[in-house]
Amino acid sequence: MLDQTIREQVEIHGHVLLREIELSQVTKVARLFGEITADIRSPDPYRRISPQALDSAKPNTLSSRYGLGTFPFHTDVAHWRAPADFVLLFCDNPGSGNRPTELIDTRPWPITAEFHHALRSDLWKTGYRFPRFCTVGTEVDGVLNWRYDTGCMRPAGRKSSELQTKIDALISSSSPARLSWATNSLLVIDNKRMLHGRGRAAAPDQDRKLIRILVGGIQ
Ligand SMILES: [Fe+2]
Repeated sequence: MLDQTIREQVEIHGHVLLREIELSQVTKVARLFGEITADIRSPDPYRRISPQALDSAKPNTLSSRYGLGTFPFHTDVAHWRAPADFVLLFCDNPGSGNRPTELIDTRPWPITAEFHHALRSDLWKTGYRFPRFCTVGTEVDGVLNWRYDTGCMRPAGRKSSELQTKIDALISSSSPARLSWATNSLLVIDNKRMLHGRGRAAAPDQDRKLIRILVGGIQ
């Protein structure tokens, strides 16, 4: 696919799944979307991720909470000051469980003016070592950007608790896209727009290996 087409697909659909990409091409694709960034906690910009049982997971990760189960829909690195703009997932091995990655597009959600305001003003707490307040929504050039991960964000008051109920209802009523993996597939996700989750595996799949690359954001 041409570079321009890749960007257009992400602009239109919030994501694109490319097949038969070599790992050596991934950096080039990532840089179509901005500068590659790394999480301080896992400084390798190419972070290998695999399903992990509860007892072997790193603390404060989704695996430490959900083990080999499904992951709820979330924004990646939601605890950053500004979450990464894009997330790229490269499939090194789809694993034995045929486990999909699921995506929800927030754009079709009905957002009233009141809800929009709540998303941008109701406060949440996030952060591990340096906790801080954040909001779910930020408006940039008239576009609503999302930050949502109940694994690392919690409502800071009654209003944000009510907001969580509304967001969770929207997530439950959405029909996620289910993407199945093949070796050398590359998924580009607009992390400001899409929520992603890890689907159910048909069998234990610690052999599933994805490589995650983050683009943009501020830690
Ligand atoms: Fe994620």
